[in-house]
Amino acid sequence: MYAIEVNNLNKIYTSLSGEMPVVQDLSFKIDTGSVFGFLGPNGAGKTTTIKMMVGLAMPTSGEIKIMDESPKSINLRRRIGFMPENSAFYLYLTGKEFMQFVADIFGLSGQDKNKRIDALLKEVNLYDARNLQIRKYSKGMAQRLGLAQALINDPEVIFLDEPLDGLDPLGRAEAKELLLKLKKQGKTIFFNSHILADVEDICDQVGIIDKGRLVAYGSVQEVQGDFDTLEAAFVALIRKQRANN
Ligand SMILES: Nc1ncnc2c1ncn2[C@@H]1O[C@H](COP(=O)(O)OP(=O)(O)OP(=O)(O)O)[C@@H](O)[C@H]1O
Ligand SMILES: [Mg+2]
Repeated sequence: MYAIEVNNLNKIYTSLSGEMPVVQDLSFKIDTGSVFGFLGPNGAGKTTTIKMMVGLAMPTSGEIKIMDESPKSINLRRRIGFMPENSAFYLYLTGKEFMQFVADIFGLSGQDKNKRIDALLKEVNLYDARNLQIRKYSKGMAQRLGLAQALINDPEVIFLDEPLDGLDPLGRAEAKELLLKLKKQGKTIFFNSHILADVEDICDQVGIIDKGRLVAYGSVQEVQGDFDTLEAAFVALIRKQRANN
């Protein structure tokens, strides 16, 4: 079964200067229990696509099914996790208080809630900093909290917008191990990243978009082709695409 199905998805933003197509005729399918890397240059439409998949932005046309449900479904939202590109935290809460806030939104309570919060804070290496206000967190620490909060409801499908951004090499290695552990538990992970070496490490499949259109899609090996690295293939594909348009 597919965890994610996207068919002919379009998003057009309208402004005073006219209509701007940001996502154009995007279609892909992602297997349950796999890790999908969604790649593309700045402004390609990755965040917009993720926002449509988690129900925060409305498609102009096309269809999205997550575990066979529409992103509009409240029932579905209980079963997915989302880490936004720039997590807008309440800066005067501590990390632990913020996790309690997120847990409350999902209706967790009692021992379950506290156990889960402590386990997640340990998982992302923030347990020692749990009582520090978020405004005192470093960039990487805030990023780790963003990852922890996305997992509070033990989601089946997890959407992460640049989860590895801002992490040091050790933090990236730990975050990748966490993602692989989640995959082992049968979770489906959809994430954006500009760090293609990491994508090579953990993704089963990748999709590359440029200017809202899918330009490559398949296993890492398929997309990499004869290039030495995924990054080299990415640069060549985008340049070729732009030369032809
Ligand atoms: N709310 C909005 N209104 C109008 N235009 C928008 C809006 N959000 C995004 N855009 C435009 O849509 C395009 C795609 O933006 P998006 O944030 O999806 O890119 P991205 O692939 O996530 O880029 P990055 O790698 O820099 O995060 C950009 O041209 C951006 O200016
Ligand atoms: Mg983005």
